Amino acid sequence: MRTHYCAEISEEYIGEEVTVAGWVASRRDHGGVIFIDLRDKDEVVQLVCDPADSEEAHRIAEEVRDQYVLVATGKVRPRGEGLENPNLKTGKVEIVVHTLTIENRSKPMPFDLGDEKVNEEIRLKYRYLDLRTPRMHQIFQLRSTAAIAARNSLAEMGFLEVETPVLTKSTPEGARDYLVPSRVWPGEFYALPQSPQLFKQLLMVSGFDRYFQLAKCFRDEDLRADRQPEFTQIDVEMSFMDQDKIMEVAERLIRDIWAACGFWEKLPSMFPRMTYKEAMETYGSDKPDLRFDLKMVDVIDIFERCSNEIFSTIAKSPKKNRIKALKVPNGDNIFSKRQMKGFEDYVRKFGAQGLGYFQMKEEGLKGPLTKFFSEEDLQAIIDRCGLEVGDVVFFGAGEKKVVLDYMGRFRLYLAELMEIVPKDVHKFVWIVDFPMFELEEGKLKALHHPFTMPKLSDKGTLDYDDIEELESAAYDLVLNGTELGGGSLRIHKQEIQKEVFELMGISDEEAQEKFGFLLDALEFGAPPHGGFAMGFDRIIMLLAGTDSIRDVIAFPKTQKAQCLLTHAPSPVDPEQLKELHIRLRQRPTAE
Ligand code: AMO
Repeated sequence: MRTHYCAEISEEYIGEEVTVAGWVASRRDHGGVIFIDLRDKDEVVQLVCDPADSEEAHRIAEEVRDQYVLVATGKVRPRGEGLENPNLKTGKVEIVVHTLTIENRSKPMPFDLGDEKVNEEIRLKYRYLDLRTPRMHQIFQLRSTAAIAARNSLAEMGFLEVETPVLTKSTPEGARDYLVPSRVWPGEFYALPQSPQLFKQLLMVSGFDRYFQLAKCFRDEDLRADRQPEFTQIDVEMSFMDQDKIMEVAERLIRDIWAACGFWEKLPSMFPRMTYKEAMETYGSDKPDLRFDLKMVDVIDIFERCSNEIFSTIAKSPKKNRIKALKVPNGDNIFSKRQMKGFEDYVRKFGAQGLGYFQMKEEGLKGPLTKFFSEEDLQAIIDRCGLEVGDVVFFGAGEKKVVLDYMGRFRLYLAELMEIVPKDVHKFVWIVDFPMFELEEGKLKALHHPFTMPKLSDKGTLDYDDIEELESAAYDLVLNGTELGGGSLRIHKQEIQKEVFELMGISDEEAQEKFGFLLDALEFGAPPHGGFAMGFDRIIMLLAGTDSIRDVIAFPKTQKAQCLLTHAPSPVDPEQLKELHIRLRQRPTAE
């Protein structure tokens, strides 16, 4: 219907006739002459409906309301002196309309389009209107550009795009599965994939060598600002590559996406690496936000000598426990006594018994705890933490996992409060040398997933003194404190895979039942292989500078995993349930 998109209408077309089509962004009646801002997918152009030019067009323009759908034909002319709009690509010109068609009318909008303070529920209910706004168009343009760049980048590196099934068997990535009942197999279920992990490994056994996919993944887990029940990964796997080479592929992919989306100058010259241990001990997190400093320092040896029994007892078990100091430069001048007390309440929520602190004054360290320390040890704290007058140093003491966790959270909390997080930088870091397992309720659980290659002895066997210290060939890419993606070398020998299952308390029968197809495949010439998956939605969130993953998914779910637009999930017809051999125990009453 159109000859041009609105954004194309510029001085170049002055005197020419054009036809544009779109939605009414606003309409102003200036005593006889009606001005309409018409918006299409990416820009606004001004229409002028003057009865002197066309009585018919003017009559129609009188009927027009916001968000009506119009097709307008007219001549491009310069705007009058002083009436130019520098904020618009089309701001120097306007179209004097002689033919105007209303293609469709619109009810008044249920909310003010583009007003970011509008309640999210109403935006999600009318998502198609929310998506009509320029900001949303920009985000989905970015998403499309990034997807195309990812595909091109991987294709250039010799990767083949292969689709893997959505109706499949459970893949353990640590969440609950979404299940789909089978009609033809009464009482049996498909699982939606939490990731294509096992299929991509099988593709390596098939000799594809380099696979990728922009894969939909499904996880029934607690939702947060950066988690959706269905999300997209850039999923990659390759054979005969060592860990460094795989990480190089991931870096090239990230560089290509960033460059295509106009963020080239935000990329680092190299992607730094940090061990899991260092990240946990220094930042209290395996996804440290490196945009600001606030590092934790170990002071357990100094506290061991103090005369406070609680601290000295904790300090006697340096393997199990931690005493960590977190220096806040100039904190003594920034925080009030009340705020310092409030900090204690904050960390208590995450299991802290308390939160000690010292203030660095002219005359030395001050604070309720100083009396338990000798002069030399107070000086040792000053030196270890690098304290200067005006600084405050906080202490967390107790069981290792708990202390690292709450001190890590406290670090982020302080940084937000002090407004020291630069918004415009991209701080990447690879976290490497993850432990293979973590102990959860007395059971070993794979920290990544059970197909990750543990670090083997020179003889290629699984040797360890302390199973919790056993490392794996896994790596995560972190950006500004968000885990963008992760991967690992995989186990390609059946005996090692079986040993790992056994360590995790998975019996032979269970392993056979759940992963028999993988165990079988490992016996038929599985090559050494490894890969990674990047959270595509998270990449777009970071590039678009938004705090909510829902902003970058066209039709997202709420935090309660509902689609407010379609009302999914919803009850189904009893007939359908019958076909699926399902009888509900009772129909739950609506909340
Ligand atoms: P992992 O489980 O770490 O690894 O997932 C990889 C990346 O996917 C993103 N992600 C999510 N994004 C949005 N909503 C979610 N619920 C969600 N869960 C995960 C994150 C995460 O870093 N198969 C392995 C990868 C591999 O080993 O190759 C896997 O899925 O950005």
